[in-house]
Amino acid sequence: MAEVAQEVPPIEQLFNPNSGEYLENPIPQCLALAGRAPIVWYEPWQAWIVTRMPDILECWHKEPLSSDFYDWEFAPARPPEDQWSNFERAMIGHSLLADPEHHRLIRKVVSPAFSRNVVDAIQAKIEPEVKKLFDELGEPEVFDYKEKISNHIPFISITRMVGIPEKYWSEIKDVIMTFTETWNPTISDERREAARQNCNKAIDIIKEVIAERRDAPEQDDFLSTLLKIEQENDKFVEGDIITLILALIGAGSDTTLVAQQWAVYSLLKNDRDQIPKALASAEAFSNAFSEINRWGVSSKMGFARYAPRDMEFMGQQLRKGVMVLMMPHLKDHDPEYYENPEKFDVERVFDPDVMFGYGPRYCIGAALAKRQLFLTMTELFSRFPDVELAEEPEKDLEDHNAIVFKRLMLKTNCK
Ligand code: HEM
Repeated sequence: MAEVAQEVPPIEQLFNPNSGEYLENPIPQCLALAGRAPIVWYEPWQAWIVTRMPDILECWHKEPLSSDFYDWEFAPARPPEDQWSNFERAMIGHSLLADPEHHRLIRKVVSPAFSRNVVDAIQAKIEPEVKKLFDELGEPEVFDYKEKISNHIPFISITRMVGIPEKYWSEIKDVIMTFTETWNPTISDERREAARQNCNKAIDIIKEVIAERRDAPEQDDFLSTLLKIEQENDKFVEGDIITLILALIGAGSDTTLVAQQWAVYSLLKNDRDQIPKALASAEAFSNAFSEINRWGVSSKMGFARYAPRDMEFMGQQLRKGVMVLMMPHLKDHDPEYYENPEKFDVERVFDPDVMFGYGPRYCIGAALAKRQLFLTMTELFSRFPDVELAEEPEKDLEDHNAIVFKRLMLKTNCK
């Protein structure tokens, strides 16, 4: 019998991460997109979407596409060098976005800054601050976890990690919270520009901190480690330190905020026997963190890349500068990928585990992110063993990048 060609609705009718339906339940939309084809043109974002894991892994691993925001066809034009503000100076030719060869060199030379010892030392500084947050909270009957705890964590960890002295904290706080907006391709030009202005201020502060640290080196933090690396490698210069710190702020703030909220929500929403299993050890929690990330499906746009030239890619002709989004989260509730995907199981096996990316751009901050979340969750559940959700939290339509909650009210049951 001859096959009848079926009319399929345009994908934007089935998949829209800015819709209320996606916020309430992204799973049917993710499955619809993944079922459409391995690579799909998404008109509203003028972007191709890579939907399936083998292709995403290959793309992560071999890097046929550019990670440089300035290669995007709609990115602001690169101004001439004599008109560069701090922002362009830091972002054009960004160490972590630049050509793969320079990127690999930077990753190699900075690896001592992410060694076990340095992460341990940073962790030791963050721990008392997290305890202090809980001390200040006291023992209320009900509290908003976002307002009282999670909103403070990125700021605490970035300032302690980099070693930014207290006198700069009030100035740098807003920047840390809005920094990723400077390169988000899906928001308005005005909003990106405001974030860019903020970023310019931050760079001035970072330069001052670096100058001070040069006069008083050998402190036990990331910046001192980077300054030592600078002395030993003539291809690693102050500009690289600044862009690296900005990358840490950018990559480490929003991700931490999202992870904090979904960790609490998923542990409280599911069977309580999962909580002791998740918190049994740092290793157990590391796996639980991947399950939290899978079960929650919080991502809206995945990871952006740009065609560096007119090229063929996965059987499609890409125009120079077009955006290509990799969306590993589309698989997260696919029954062909995970057995019983609706079940929250902190002992689920992930192979490969791609929560922190894969290949040459694997997350630099993975160890730190896991340790800081483990620390906060352990603190929460040891202070309030019977804590529960006080209400089903409402999702926040405004967030530019992820599904998050407007507030996360918890009932402590401690009295
Ligand atoms: C829950 C927390 C986090 C998650 C889920 C996460 C996830 C990821 C993923 C998936 C990538 C690869 C992105 C891509 O291929 O485009 C990445 C890269 C990166 N992450 Fe994280 N991250 C987290 C926290 C952090 C923290 C706390 C830091 C800094 C301290 C950090 C620093 C970075 C940096 C600098 C990169 C870019 C690496 C490169 O291009 O070589 N991340 N992260």
